[in-house]
Amino acid sequence: MARKKATPLDPLVATPAVREAAQALIQAVQDEAAERALTPKAYAKALKEVERLRGRPLLFPLIAGGVGRGARVWLADGTMKLDFIGGIGVYGLGHGDTDLLEHAVVASAQDAVFQGHLMPGPEYLRLSRALLRHAGPHLKHVWLSVSGVDANENALKMLLQKRAPADHIIVFERSFHGRTITMAELTDRPGFREGLPLRGNVHFVPFHDPDNPQSLQRSLEILDMHLKRYAGRVAGMAFELVQGEGGCHPAPREFFVALMERCREANVAVWVDEVQTFARTGELFAFRTLELDDYVDRVTAGKVLQGSATLYRRDFNPRPGLVAGTYAGSTVGMAIGARIIERLGEDGYLGPEGRIAVLGRRIQKRFESLARRLPKAVGPQTGVGAMQSFVPFDGSPDLAKAVLDTCIEEGLLLLAAGSNPSKIRMLPPVNTTDEELESGFAMLEKALRRVADEKELPC
Ligand SMILES: Cc1ncc(COP(=O)(O)O)c(C=O)c1O
Repeated sequence: MARKKATPLDPLVATPAVREAAQALIQAVQDEAAERALTPKAYAKALKEVERLRGRPLLFPLIAGGVGRGARVWLADGTMKLDFIGGIGVYGLGHGDTDLLEHAVVASAQDAVFQGHLMPGPEYLRLSRALLRHAGPHLKHVWLSVSGVDANENALKMLLQKRAPADHIIVFERSFHGRTITMAELTDRPGFREGLPLRGNVHFVPFHDPDNPQSLQRSLEILDMHLKRYAGRVAGMAFELVQGEGGCHPAPREFFVALMERCREANVAVWVDEVQTFARTGELFAFRTLELDDYVDRVTAGKVLQGSATLYRRDFNPRPGLVAGTYAGSTVGMAIGARIIERLGEDGYLGPEGRIAVLGRRIQKRFESLARRLPKAVGPQTGVGAMQSFVPFDGSPDLAKAVLDTCIEEGLLLLAAGSNPSKIRMLPPVNTTDEELESGFAMLEKALRRVADEKELPC
């Protein structure tokens, strides 16, 4: 049978000669990068220079060396770390994934480094299709953008226009929605908006509290209070279905259903911020893991997507002029984002028995067994899939920081989340292997024992 002629919309990486050339380049780059390492003195100097140039210290002394494999990444000083935080949840399929690198190399050899909304390329189309294919029956459109906060700004603008003149927004306590002036106001961290002007139209509702049997009732009462006080003026409510920066807090489906139903009755648009949950909870979107399709008006995604996106129902399509911008994303980001979605769908990652859900259960089991050995060092553990956290010791910020610093010395990268208590968060690649998990938990255990020894604490 004659081979069908490829069109400009077909992936160039599927052509054997193109793929082989990409493989050769990747091999050459990796061979060369693996040969390079800074001496400890040169590494310390580079760290100091980064800090001087950006005007403040790095959170951790880390400069990447350009090589990685799975959950492991090599730093510029030639040392290897097990990376269970992945640039705050960006490395969904880990480091140095050969297939993703091949897609990236081919995408980067084309005409446009970045793509805009004026003349989108094939990757824009592929990524848009891939996202909508997983978005359920109601979300019909997608608008691509660069960082998570861009997607959130677009979502908020669209819902405000749709509900104008209503201009009040409801969010959860402990929420995080990004760092523009507007999103800093929607984020429940006063320190993140110090000195910024506030519009005063954002109201907070408590998130689910597993320790309080009246939690749902309390949240509903406070939501009702806002809806009554600002009757007809509340445009939308933002939902982070698993609070990421707040400390990996999930909530049961019934909690969200009750609040979303109230929003529906009051004509308040439901916006789900999936910038961090995207590709981490079992389905591509957490609102689908929780079967909330019928309630959701718009959704934002980022991080693992390698760009960002706002997805919305037909009736939330904004009028011309409201949403635009030079960039829709980088060509490499779009190509890899589309490929990641394709692989998650085809390689058994999604669904209740998919690899992401199974990984979550394995991590929880390991936490349980660690807590049995170190009951004073491993406090409550929460999370879903590839988004997990625990409270170290008494949950004080200083002890959490000491554990994180010691983990780095032991070779494991993690990050803090939440406050009061301070937690330690894990956003590992969704393809983390059992061997990587075992190694990571052994390092975590060593770090907790060392901190207990050094601070003379029981563990
Ligand atoms: C839930 C949530 N929304 C929005 C953002 C902002 O995304 P970005 O930092 O890509 O702008 C983040 C980032 O951590 C997030 O976790």
